[in-house]
Amino acid sequence: MSKKNHVDIISEDNAKPFQPPKIFKEKALVNDEKPYREAEKDRLAFWAKKADNLQWSKKWEQVLDDSNPPYFKWFVNGKLNVSANCLDRHVENGLSDKKAILFEGEEGDTISLTYAKLLKEVNKFCNVLSDLGVARGDAVTIWMPMIPEAVVAMLACTRIGAVHSVVFGGFSPDALKDRILDSRSKLLVTADGANRKGKVLPMKGMAEEALQLCPSIEKVVIVERAGSDYEVTEGRDLLWKDLMKNADENFSPAEMDAEDPLFILYSSGTTGKPKGILHTTAGYLVGVNTTHRYVFDHHEDDIYWCTADIGWVTGHSYIVYGPLSNGSTVFIYEGTPDYPNRDRFWELIEKYKITVFYTAPTAIRSFMRWGNHFPAGHDLSSLRLLGSVGEPINPEAWLWYHEHIGKTKCPIVDTWWQTETGMIMITPLPGLTPLKPGSATKAFPGIDVDVVDDQGYSTGPGQRGFLVIKTPWPAMLRTLYEDHERYEHTYWKQYPGLYFTGDGAWKDSDGYLWIMGRVDDVLNVSGHRIGTMEVESALVDHQSVAEAAVIGKVHEIKGHAITAFVTLKEGVDGSEELLKELKTHVGKKIGAIARPEEIFFTYELPKTRSGKIMRRLLRDIAEQRDLGDVTTLMDPQVVKAIKNNYSDK
Ligand code: WT7
Repeated sequence: MSKKNHVDIISEDNAKPFQPPKIFKEKALVNDEKPYREAEKDRLAFWAKKADNLQWSKKWEQVLDDSNPPYFKWFVNGKLNVSANCLDRHVENGLSDKKAILFEGEEGDTISLTYAKLLKEVNKFCNVLSDLGVARGDAVTIWMPMIPEAVVAMLACTRIGAVHSVVFGGFSPDALKDRILDSRSKLLVTADGANRKGKVLPMKGMAEEALQLCPSIEKVVIVERAGSDYEVTEGRDLLWKDLMKNADENFSPAEMDAEDPLFILYSSGTTGKPKGILHTTAGYLVGVNTTHRYVFDHHEDDIYWCTADIGWVTGHSYIVYGPLSNGSTVFIYEGTPDYPNRDRFWELIEKYKITVFYTAPTAIRSFMRWGNHFPAGHDLSSLRLLGSVGEPINPEAWLWYHEHIGKTKCPIVDTWWQTETGMIMITPLPGLTPLKPGSATKAFPGIDVDVVDDQGYSTGPGQRGFLVIKTPWPAMLRTLYEDHERYEHTYWKQYPGLYFTGDGAWKDSDGYLWIMGRVDDVLNVSGHRIGTMEVESALVDHQSVAEAAVIGKVHEIKGHAITAFVTLKEGVDGSEELLKELKTHVGKKIGAIARPEEIFFTYELPKTRSGKIMRRLLRDIAEQRDLGDVTTLMDPQVVKAIKNNYSDK
């Protein structure tokens, strides 16, 4: 059903789609519509069949239990172990000597681990964990650089049945502390330091700041990576290498229930407190195993490189669990793309003969800025498939990636998903889907997504709306750790029965999905996407500005015109001159395209009682719509004042 509400029409993109190259298509795992047809016919039967690709110690009895929404159970009563699926079964199937991990450090040092060797290392660390008192169900925090030990630690947790919480190495000690406290971890695995562009980040020293405030931590295991000095707390701090030296190389994987917690991963929400996103065992593994195989067209001889950090969900799903459960060879690099030179990634692709490369638009835009000569100086002919994730990829970056990295012979999979979804949800299948630069194309087989308006009605082609997921999927989050209420509120209250992604999107007349980014913070100005936050930061960067809220006002030609509401610091007058100065300031900070078309000074911004700026209301004011109920605002008078001020203009 289509019902027009507060949605605006977006013009069609008529560019001719890119067809999969013939050679790619011929060898692709999927090159016809069969998986889509199968899943359409019977979604649960489709997923049941995919579950057969895993090794179960006891087969599940029911594919999906949806009797108590929004709490769903997948593969009910099935038993399995994630590490056994990622390691043992490959070793049993003759892949002992196949490389599981190829690693290169920032300084060029290398490590390679076969599946047999990785299994041994994992088993040893299981014995270490077990000796340190970590048992099934315990939480373990992992705060580490991008080194193989991080993968070993994760897999060892899954083998024991402990729940890992990997915290991104770039977070501050304060963020680490919050996450340790929330998960009540007993053990921290960390490193002395991390190599960062030729310098050393003293991780253990930083972790100490957090540990002072984390009484739950009983033991700290330290990998010596960067030769960084640190203080040792006797009885608590232990060295990885000492513990591993004599550890037994055998450890039986725990038989886990399909719905046993697998990991917690913290992600930012609209409040200050991070959300502990909880994933469970079987559904997650079925989801990432299937999507990794199909989306990255897994071939046995692939050398697969996903440049994400292990501390993000992309690292969990598409460095560790997806590829290893498929027996892939995963390349891991410790450092950044610009050290020692801006061709570091291209050098590595050439050296390791990387075949599949998965990175983020923000990186691609940096590569573009740095110049074509960096990739041009290397042989990138091993590449056959490229991927993108994390934000909408602007067509210009897509085309550059296609030409300068893929040399026009590699399909690009633009994959939309979230920490919450656990697995890729919207994506092309590279041997099949015609590509339109900037569109993540269509839902993966067995996934039901839609774009709906304010009322929850399906939008028509070209109408902007909200991206929702209509039916449960295997790798979905099960709840927010110890906060069911927030889980229900954040994802299931907006539209009863639908999962709310928080993203804006539209469909074109071919049914292709175009993701606009988070609903509150994305603008489209003359085809350029600009984050409201970006413009807001540029505004508050000016010495006269106390606070700023930025919205996109619908504009016939540009799509959106940037409109800013600004409160000034005490004693500053809102003169015409200052107005011009602020516009110029934003232009200088971001670029002419981000220059606000309109700026309004106001004594206060409309905020909810919890202090969240109500951008929606500002949009309604700018587009002269009725405001409805504003009584939940901290100061209901504010909107009246802004409205009067606005119509005076
Ligand atoms: C948000 C999720 C999924 C792993 C990395 C980020 C945005 C992600 C795309 C894409 C447009 C995308 C969305 C989503 N996003 N991929 N291909 N096209 N937008 O995980 O931190 O949980 O963020 O990233 O806004 O909701 P995350």
